[in-house]
Amino acid sequence: MPTAHLTIDPAFTIAPVNRRTFGTFVEHMGRCVYTGIYEPGHATADEDGFRKDVLELTRELGVSVVRYPGGNFVSGFRWEDSVGPRAERPRRLDLAWHSVETNEFGLDEFSRWCAKAGVEPMMAINLGTRGVQEALDLLEYANHPGGTALSDLREQHGAAPYGIKLWCLGNELDGPWQVGHKTPTEYGRLAAETARAMRMIDKDLELVACGSSSSRMPLFGTWERDVLRETYEFVEYISCHAYYGNDDGDTASFLASAVNMDHFIDSVVATADHVGAELKSSKKIGISFDEWNVWYGDRSRRTDGPGEAWEVAPRRIEDEYNVTDAVVLGNLLISLLRHSDRVGVACLAQLANVIAPIMTEPGGAAWRQPTFHPFAITSRLAAGQVLRIETDSPLVSTAKYGDVPAVDAVATYDDGQIALFAVNRSSEGPVEVTVDLTRAGVTSLDEAVIVHDDDPLATNSAAHPDRVTAQPFESARLADGKLTITLPAISWTALSLSTN
Ligand code: AHR
Repeated sequence: MPTAHLTIDPAFTIAPVNRRTFGTFVEHMGRCVYTGIYEPGHATADEDGFRKDVLELTRELGVSVVRYPGGNFVSGFRWEDSVGPRAERPRRLDLAWHSVETNEFGLDEFSRWCAKAGVEPMMAINLGTRGVQEALDLLEYANHPGGTALSDLREQHGAAPYGIKLWCLGNELDGPWQVGHKTPTEYGRLAAETARAMRMIDKDLELVACGSSSSRMPLFGTWERDVLRETYEFVEYISCHAYYGNDDGDTASFLASAVNMDHFIDSVVATADHVGAELKSSKKIGISFDEWNVWYGDRSRRTDGPGEAWEVAPRRIEDEYNVTDAVVLGNLLISLLRHSDRVGVACLAQLANVIAPIMTEPGGAAWRQPTFHPFAITSRLAAGQVLRIETDSPLVSTAKYGDVPAVDAVATYDDGQIALFAVNRSSEGPVEVTVDLTRAGVTSLDEAVIVHDDDPLATNSAAHPDRVTAQPFESARLADGKLTITLPAISWTALSLSTN
């Protein structure tokens, strides 16, 4: 059996674990909101119409921050439509997803839902069809304590100040599919002026400028450089978005998707630091990886197109995930954690039904996709400092990324507790991994779980919601400060150990 060797030393720190790494995303798209998190009349609905089964699963998932209301949707969104008495809220065409938005669920409802879910809200503003004034109005409505037209309006609507710190300055405006698509200079100027004005209301806001909508975009790199040249002094973050799929049947490359994410983050950090050098600035720009996931199907197809009926909350990209997808997702989280020195926010896109870890049926059950498990377990166990691991692993060949290590891992260390997250990206067979923990003074193995199945395509459904779960990982052995684990092909593992 091929062998790999890892060395963990609590002195090899990268940065503190950032709770905002465990964010997700709720967009007015498909059934994420309607019949996802919100369904008055559902057996579990509370007095606000929020599905309590989904609220419970959101808490179990360990979500820290939720981005809202888009996504592509935000580029045509008029926030005023979504507040006030429900009967007076207008129905609008949503051009992003070729559907009808009823505005039955809006900003006040989202703020209440966040409080119930115990998550921090992250608000995206419309810089597609709108500009500085509308952003200021929204900020006043959302956060100002009272005594002005818009803050008093919010009070009349029965809502307390939202206290939102994190704001996205638009969404994917480099994409020609975006309503209000812009050149980097057009967008950079608008984002800078919007940020400058928003800071006049609250200098402590944390603002995210849009990076490229994917590293495959023709302007990738140039877009980040030009946007940051305009916005550097006004923003804390530049966004990254990445979706990975296995549509072409190249499973070896798909399993190595985290190699691409590592490279993507490193490229954007290098570009941001280059602009910082040009500007003679000591400030460092962070990464808000505010959309990431596995996504099957044609990602360039943004709507089902003219000719299709305009419906309320039609089913859109309700991908059914399998064990292989869960292993890839766990590995992408390893990549995000490894970059905790620069990744300040990350949002798994999305939360419910739309490429989501939580699925629901209208009037029916809610269940966990296989991808739910590595996310929930990483969120629960990662704590303290992220540790860099010395890894010596056999390689696997991939068509897209060349030869890559089969075993990839990251660890965290928190006051007597080490958490180790590891994947075997090989589909060929198991790898025996020895982990040298002598410098950590490990005393016991407290928990070991694995996501793996003899059928790497096994999945969950309403009828079989727990076909794929995280299982106790029996093969882990601890002796003389050394841990030995045999990672089966296509597996994700988490272990928790005590130190003296
Ligand atoms: O998450 C689905 C969509 O993917 C978002 O609306 C958009 O920002 C991205 O292209």
